Amino acid sequence: MKNICVIGTGYVGLVTGTCFADMGNQVVCIDINQEKIDMLHAGKMPIYEPGLEEMVERNVRAGRLSFSTSYDEGLDQAEFVFIAVGTPSGVDGEADLRYVRMAAETIARTMTAPLVIINKSTVPVGTGDWVADIISHTQPTPIDFAVVSNPEFLREGSAISDFLNPDRVVLGSLNSDAAEKVAQLHLALRAPIVVTDLRTAEMIKYASNAFLATRISFINEIAAICEELGADVKEVAAGMGYDKRIGRYFLDAGLGYGGSCFPKDVLALEHMALVHGTHPSLLRAVMDINRDQRRKVVHRLRKELGRLHDKRIGLLGLAFKPNTDDMRDAPAVEIGNLLRSEGARIKGYDPVAMHVAPRYLPDIVLTEDPYDLAEGCDAIVVCTEWNEFRHLDLPRIHSSMRQPVIFDGRNIYDPERMAGIGFRYHAVGRNRRLGNGNDVLTMPAMPDEL
Ligand code: UGA
Repeated sequence: MKNICVIGTGYVGLVTGTCFADMGNQVVCIDINQEKIDMLHAGKMPIYEPGLEEMVERNVRAGRLSFSTSYDEGLDQAEFVFIAVGTPSGVDGEADLRYVRMAAETIARTMTAPLVIINKSTVPVGTGDWVADIISHTQPTPIDFAVVSNPEFLREGSAISDFLNPDRVVLGSLNSDAAEKVAQLHLALRAPIVVTDLRTAEMIKYASNAFLATRISFINEIAAICEELGADVKEVAAGMGYDKRIGRYFLDAGLGYGGSCFPKDVLALEHMALVHGTHPSLLRAVMDINRDQRRKVVHRLRKELGRLHDKRIGLLGLAFKPNTDDMRDAPAVEIGNLLRSEGARIKGYDPVAMHVAPRYLPDIVLTEDPYDLAEGCDAIVVCTEWNEFRHLDLPRIHSSMRQPVIFDGRNIYDPERMAGIGFRYHAVGRNRRLGNGNDVLTMPAMPDEL
């Protein structure tokens, strides 16, 4: 059992703290936001993450997990302190490090015994060294400390299982004793542990996110070519995915990547590259393709419906991906804003993100369910692939729309079936009609899906 303090109760901090408590450690999670800490004391989660509430409750009850706004309380017994604060995009895409600086300064002023300070936030390469400088310059009297970079790879919606079953744990430090201690904390996870220097660990995080974003933009570019040549991008991705060197993950064509990580991290990496004199042309292309995926929807709707002024468009799914209520950089937000700027009237439905929707799309009309959404619509755009949308009563949707136009931005429906119901159906990279002599044999399950 180790004493751990986690600073920041966002996705990364709250999941990290709760999982370490569940692994038997004594954890205090700190946040400067009193409202969040009050919520957590009341057993309410500031974020929607499947399984988190039960895990928090279990560990609070067992006395292993507590919440506070006080660094004194958090650092009192701590041997390890994780920094897991936000690093939003600042000017020109540069990561804004004000919260990391505040955390480092407060740790330096509060610590009374040697500490291993572990940075989990996604921070520009070189930030670990900068944090070490801040701490040694702010400490009133010198106390031993070491800084370790331990980037997080968890995804919203599957954060707990990603934390507990990581593909790898990355630790960066020039202090091998500190790296060894942090490695010990992770031994129970039985994952490969990569120990490297601070800057390399920081870069591994950016390179991983940028690579996944690149795969998404790559398949979206292939989708655009498929549309012109009459091929089906879903089957192209499946056919590519059997090659072990390629794999099937992150090859779903659609409306592009969103959320609080990929857009911000690709931009920040581009910024770092530019500032240091390199030409990140691939990263730029990744971002351009991603932006175009949203614009193309509006272009296609204009071609299908004519002038969009006063047209009623339903956004089916508002969160940036399923199993989260997060709408940061969600395709629905950009598409909604583009449609609104052309005078369209926007309706929206999402199984869990409705409570945050007005913050992102102020004049959106929210509906009870997908059927209510369809009522009187000139078009529906599927923005998020929630599982329940795959099983809708589509003939019922068809009969309540004013014009039966569907833009399936996540390729969840079968083009043939949609045409059969009578929809004017659009998808991403799928204009080939199966059953017209071009049938594909039923394929066995992909290894990744087994
Ligand atoms: C991402 C990474 O996957 C995590 O490893 C990382 O820890 C996290 O960012 C972070 O840096 O904190 P997350 O943003 O939760 O996690 O979401 P993903 O599941 O990776 O999806 C990102 C976006 O890509 C979503 O908008 C999703 O719809 C889109 N996507 C994903 C596609 O368009 N196609 C795909 O094939 C896969």
